Amino acid sequence: MQSKPSFPLIIAMLAALAAIALTAYAAWRMSRPALEGAVGPNAVVGASRVVKVSPEIKIGGPFTLTDHTGKRVHDTDFRGRLMLVYFGYGYCPDVCPTELQNIAAALDMLGTDAKTVQPIFITVDPERDTVKFLAEYVPQFYPRLIGLTGTPAEIDAVAKEYRVYHARAKDDVPPAKGGTGKDAESQDYLVDHSAFVYLMGRDGTYLTMFRPATDPRKIAQTLTAYLTDEQAARK
Ligand code: NI
Repeated sequence: MQSKPSFPLIIAMLAALAAIALTAYAAWRMSRPALEGAVGPNAVVGASRVVKVSPEIKIGGPFTLTDHTGKRVHDTDFRGRLMLVYFGYGYCPDVCPTELQNIAAALDMLGTDAKTVQPIFITVDPERDTVKFLAEYVPQFYPRLIGLTGTPAEIDAVAKEYRVYHARAKDDVPPAKGGTGKDAESQDYLVDHSAFVYLMGRDGTYLTMFRPATDPRKIAQTLTAYLTDEQAARK
C-alpha cells in the first residue's frame, strides 16, 4: 500500500523552502559592502576607514600659530579651502613621514582639484620643530604643505580642540650610573601622539577624519566625493 503525500503538505514544504531561499538571498545582499561595485567619484576604497564621530563631539576650532615661513596665521586664513590637518613631529621616525607622504600622494591624485585643499602639519613638538626646522622639513613632502608651530601653550590649545593626544614618551632607558639626571632634557626623545588626518570644510567645520595608514586613494576619493557634492549643490 502506497501512501500518497497529501497535497497541502507539499505546498507547505515548498513554501518553507522558498522562505529559506529568500532569507539566504537577503542575508547575502546585506553582507555585501554597501558601495561594492560603485563607480565614479563616490566609489570609495575601504569605506570602514572613515571615522564617524558623534555630532556632539566638536573637532577643530580657532587657532593662531606660526607657519614655517615665520608668519603668524589663523584658522580663518584657510576659509574657502578644505583643510587636511595632521598633527605630528619632525623627529618622528616612521608614522609621521608615512602620513605626510600619504597626504601628498592623495593630493597628487586629485590633479587640479588639489588646489582647493590646504594640507597643514601642526607640530606637537614645538621645542624642536622650530620655524627654521619646519622650513626644511615640510617641503620634503609636498610643495604646498604648511608647517605650523607655536608656543607650547598654543600647541596644547590647538591639540585639545582637535582632541589630539600628545605626550613626550617616557625614556625607557634608565639613566646611566652617576648620570646628571638631565636625560629629560635630551634632544633625543620620542613623542607619543594620535595620528588621525582631519578633513575640515571650507567654513572650518569638521567633515571627517582618516585613521593612520589610510590608503591615499581612499583619501583622494573622499576629497573628490566632497568636491563633487559641492558642485552638485551649486547647480
Ligand atoms: Ni609621529
